[in-house]
Amino acid sequence: MRLLIVSNRLPFSIEEKEGKISFKESTGGLVTGISAYLDSLKNSSFTKQEHIWIGWPGSEINPKFENELRKKALSDYNAYPVYIDEKSMDHFYNGFCNKTIWPLFHCFPVYTTYNETAWNYYKKVNEQFCEAIVKIVKPDDMVWVHDYHLMLLPKLLKEKLPGTPVGFFLHIPFPPIEIFRLLPKKWRVEILEGLIGADLIGFHTHDYTQNFLKCTLRLLGFDHNMGNITTDNRVLKADTFPMGIHYLKYHDTSALPEVRQEKEKLKSTFTGLKTILSVDRLDYTKGILNRLEGYELFLENNPEWHKKVVMLLFVVPSRIGIDNYQKMKAKLDALVGKINGKFGSLDWTPIHYQYKYLPLKPLVSLYAFCDVAMITPLRDGMNLVAKEYIAALTDKTGVLILSEMAGAAKELGEAIVINPNHKEEIADALKEALEMPVEQQNKRNSAMQKRIQEYDVIRWANDFTQELIEVNEFKKKFNARLLNSADKKQLIKSFKDAGSRIIFMDYDGTLVPFSGLPENAYPDEEILKLLKSFSGDPKTKVVIISGRDKQTLQNWLGNTNADMVSEHGVWIKDNGNDWQLLKPLNADWKLKIMPILKTNSDRLPGSFVEEKEFSVVWHYRRSDPELASIRAKELIDDLISFTANIDVQVLQGNKVIEVRNAGINKGIAANYFLSKNKYDFIMALGDDWTDEDLFKSLPDNAYSLKIGMGSSHAKYNLGNYKEARKLLNEILN
Ligand code: UDP
Ligand code: G6P
Repeated sequence: MRLLIVSNRLPFSIEEKEGKISFKESTGGLVTGISAYLDSLKNSSFTKQEHIWIGWPGSEINPKFENELRKKALSDYNAYPVYIDEKSMDHFYNGFCNKTIWPLFHCFPVYTTYNETAWNYYKKVNEQFCEAIVKIVKPDDMVWVHDYHLMLLPKLLKEKLPGTPVGFFLHIPFPPIEIFRLLPKKWRVEILEGLIGADLIGFHTHDYTQNFLKCTLRLLGFDHNMGNITTDNRVLKADTFPMGIHYLKYHDTSALPEVRQEKEKLKSTFTGLKTILSVDRLDYTKGILNRLEGYELFLENNPEWHKKVVMLLFVVPSRIGIDNYQKMKAKLDALVGKINGKFGSLDWTPIHYQYKYLPLKPLVSLYAFCDVAMITPLRDGMNLVAKEYIAALTDKTGVLILSEMAGAAKELGEAIVINPNHKEEIADALKEALEMPVEQQNKRNSAMQKRIQEYDVIRWANDFTQELIEVNEFKKKFNARLLNSADKKQLIKSFKDAGSRIIFMDYDGTLVPFSGLPENAYPDEEILKLLKSFSGDPKTKVVIISGRDKQTLQNWLGNTNADMVSEHGVWIKDNGNDWQLLKPLNADWKLKIMPILKTNSDRLPGSFVEEKEFSVVWHYRRSDPELASIRAKELIDDLISFTANIDVQVLQGNKVIEVRNAGINKGIAANYFLSKNKYDFIMALGDDWTDEDLFKSLPDNAYSLKIGMGSSHAKYNLGNYKEARKLLNEILN
């Protein structure tokens, strides 16, 4: 099994100069993390995982170099470049990715633009990625898509490659629903649908996972159970995988002689000074300006520290084509100038500022050398620099100041954790850091080092890929229950060969979709025609077996020849006779139960109570799903204890809670029909758990079909009501 890694950014970017192409290292947590994982695979003596990294090579390339680049990318990086023209990339990358998704997902709605052209290019580039993958994928491959640039890709891939396991990992935060829903309706639905095309969706923190699950529930209507989501025809999972670093790479690099030498050099340059390190891509999410304001306040409040401390500020050029990044650069330059001007002197510069990228060894030398690292993002998916700093402290001395808005703060609780919006807090944290006793530094760093060493980037990637394999195994078992074409053929043949047949059909969710108001789920032309055709055949008995009241069934289906069972088996209408009770019942209990249900419906907007002759139902399909699920659990508890001495049962159906007489169910009703005649062909279709009694009561040779993806006593599953209708049509033709 090969692993196909797909991300917008490859580990290199190409540059074309004087008729030659050259390769430059890319920056960012995604590239560092995945490169480290893939290196570990290459160097491992026991994990032989073949892989290819598919992505954009960083700029448009002259077609005459395409072949050369393809060969070199494959031999040097195991990479497969996806060529995208400059205009598309501008709208896609500078536009939708970095002017819409990046700011919005980092909770900067004021920086977010909503541009239809950019959205269309986002779709187009996702499609181009899909085409590129389809060209090289092999039957046993597994695809792992990364980050916000490619959120539509999982669905596109699933449509083209239904059997290929597809995972997705988001390297940035997934925002709360109040922010996510600022996206236009069409875009947000397509993005969520794109993501749930994956079999496994991973996030850095539990909060991001929960935000995503809430959005899929509220905006797509798919609920979850411990992160497992069941859609109309698939199962998938969302889970949390905090990305780690290659701990040993940073730890061991820090101990290299050349890095030690560099550290000594830095020591002599900054003799007598404490050093504060700041390293980030130039990005407004990183809180660099807030950090500087905190430092400024610290210098103001603590004149005794003047000439005793220096900040080494490294800012890596990033996304230079985007206005907000340019503006931030100007603000940053001005603020550095202001602070140096205000406090500096000929013999002391409070901030040493460089606008450049640092390769691994110089970066690690700085990590190992600096007394304090200040990492204060306003929002950050994870932040690997924080973990790398801790890993590089071979002598365990050094203090990390970390924003609580970084995903990494969840794992690095021993850092001095600050709120980056409060410069007083930053200034105080600096003082605390600079004055922290060495023993305390050692203690805190030991704890953090242990944690990040245990859950490193290799564990992260292995956990993700392992879980992706497990989800797929589960899916295979699940799919094995779907009615396949051979079984369908056999079912149709049995129907045709049979001299006498009976078909039990549940109504809501089986023959028609659910509706917010039950009275709106009336039968359409297609279903009436189907029922008339089946029930009009003297060899076929059709029994509609429903939880509905008898009046509704009569009004809606009375002009077919179908027999009917109402209220889950209370009333039966057989062979054109009048409705009759299957057994004598008493409904005095309703007087006691109704007030409880009514109180509950008053407390939950959108819910209501339906009263039938021998049952009462509380409906909550139109209510807020989360509040409704809490209220439903409370109500069930109340009802179970309240009805302990009454001969009733409390049932939870699809967005309903029903209380009805005990000793009644669809299985008992089905037996009434089955005991009266012998049938050569028996079939039953139903979607919720009240139909399970029906499935259980049928003889072994019956065809029982659960409509929907859940587990069931039925022999087969069918995706949804549309598939049920399709099957019924195929039987007739
Ligand atoms: N990095 C680097 N050189 C630099 C600055 C950063 O190699 O001059 C690397 C750093 O080691 C880290 C990554 O870039 O692995 C930044 O990842 P992080 O998660 O901190 O932030 P991102 O840039 O992904 O938002
Ligand atoms: C963040 C994103 C990555 C991205 C990196 C650098 O880490 O999550 O997907 O690659 O920033 O940004 P860039 O726009 O240069 O790829």
